[in-house]
Amino acid sequence: MSAPHVVLRDVGEADRTRLRDWRNLPDVSRWMYSDHEISPAEHDRWFDAALADPARRYWIIELDGEPVGLANLADISREHRRCAWAYYLASPAVRGKGVGAFVEFWMIEHVFGVLGLEKLWCEVLIENEAVWKLHESFGFRREALFRRHVWKGGEPRDVVGLGLLKDDWAQARAASRERLIQKGYAIA
Ligand SMILES: CC(C)(COP(=O)(O)OP(=O)(O)OC[C@H]1O[C@@H](n2cnc3c(N)ncnc32)[C@H](O)[C@@H]1OP(=O)(O)O)[C@@H](O)C(=O)NCCC(=O)NCCS
Repeated sequence: MSAPHVVLRDVGEADRTRLRDWRNLPDVSRWMYSDHEISPAEHDRWFDAALADPARRYWIIELDGEPVGLANLADISREHRRCAWAYYLASPAVRGKGVGAFVEFWMIEHVFGVLGLEKLWCEVLIENEAVWKLHESFGFRREALFRRHVWKGGEPRDVVGLGLLKDDWAQARAASRERLIQKGYAIA
């Protein structure tokens, strides 16, 4: 099986409009905490704050040279040696091809290797079962169940909190790397 060519590059000014368009797609917003239509003004405030915040980092996921999604780190804390993360592929057409698995591996390696942090964590709506299971397959453990944590569409939703310690990754890395190699990726 030949692997997709996946690259993560820094978000720049040229991505401003694209990110609003993606975030307003029902297939993206349904998995986020808020799903109202984001206006240009609201988006501009978010975009400017996001790029100026040293505790956050944003990357565009490119598949075969085309921008297809967004990955980010948040709450980067040197003091507590941890950060949070999230990501999405904008179009369902590019999901299920192993792109997400590559991004997951890349981000974990970046956080522990390049940034030198010791914990990566995230929150996932409980109904997004495919995603919290995907995280667990990379060694994340469920650390929290936040009940009625988010209101969407007038309904309360439960949220799963997941964490991956540097030591967990030492245990899970080999099998995760092997799965990516099986998908055709060349991983060092
Ligand atoms: C999360 C997301 C980025 C995953 O990317 P992806 O490219 O679709 O995932 P992959 O193709 O790499 O699949 C990785 C694994 O998850 C499994 N998986 C992915 N999506 C799945 C789904 N909807 N149902 C069941 N399994 C799924 C795959 O079977 C695969 O398992 P394997 O490694 O054993 O083969 C993508 O589905 C997405 O953008 N979802 C919407 C946004 C979202 O929910 N983001 C997370 C919020 S924090």
